[in-house]
Amino acid sequence: QRLGVGLAHSKLILIGEHSVVYQKPAIALPFEAVFSEVKVAPSTGAVTLASHFYNGKLAQLPDKLQGLRHVIERACQINNQPVKDFTLTLTSTIPIGRGLGSSASIAASLARGIFDYFKADLSLPVLRELVDLSETYAHGTPSGIDREAVISDEPIWFIKDQAVEPIEVKEPLNIIVADTGRIGDTHAAVSAVNARRQSEPDTTNQLLEDLEKLTEDARTMLKTGDLKALGHVLTASHDKLKALGVSDEGLDRYVDISLSNGAVGAKLTGGGRGGCMFALTASTEQALAVEQALLEAGAKETWYIQLTNGVKTD
Ligand code: MEV
Repeated sequence: QRLGVGLAHSKLILIGEHSVVYQKPAIALPFEAVFSEVKVAPSTGAVTLASHFYNGKLAQLPDKLQGLRHVIERACQINNQPVKDFTLTLTSTIPIGRGLGSSASIAASLARGIFDYFKADLSLPVLRELVDLSETYAHGTPSGIDREAVISDEPIWFIKDQAVEPIEVKEPLNIIVADTGRIGDTHAAVSAVNARRQSEPDTTNQLLEDLEKLTEDARTMLKTGDLKALGHVLTASHDKLKALGVSDEGLDRYVDISLSNGAVGAKLTGGGRGGCMFALTASTEQALAVEQALLEAGAKETWYIQLTNGVKTD
């Protein structure tokens, strides 16, 4: 039986979320600990989608999932195929709305699965177009960093509409990611920053420039392997994001707990206001101590990753 399969990992923004919307640089890592997978199989009649968040006909997808319908329809259109006679089964271990790029990853695995089913090559520009269709639906005006980070297997340096390039990482990075368990709303957080830019342009633009400078510093420290300095830069960027209004008490508390348990730096990751944070530590041992402390503090889930030039997961 003909079967199509598509896979995509999630992503972790190391530094530069939010300021990246305003053409400032950001650094993102592929995060393979959680991923999405789509299987496409033949059937007769209307296209159906089976997943843990929706089961039923494509035509009846709820409003907030319309982006996925657009990806599927456009993928069929590009392949000159009718939107019928197949079923999609989606499994994803990426928690939704936690800043890990779940929507972009699902769009990428859908696109890959459908092209695989039609035995067609999926070029990078077409993959980008398809993920953008869904991301525009999910986030309004995304910078595109989620799209690039879920389709790249390497850490990337990203500037909206200008640059996507692999970035050098000299020393292995020991990172603990913790999920607060609370769903963040990236769309609302991005809009809040925009509103702040209108009402308080001077202080907001200063914060965005500070984040740009910290992101440039982070790139240098990744290259030279100065992890302690990198940690300070990451924590400093959390403070700037907090001043921008996209953190919350729970994220701030996890950052404090990480630092008091020996992390060299810690910050929220992604859209903020709930979702995930991560801590950088100097060793595996320290990472496990921080992980334990975050679990005791109530983290819903934690992941340990060791990143060299590419990500290894445990
Ligand atoms: C979301 O993962 C990152 C944000 O910077 C939004 C975006 O870049 O589209 C908050």
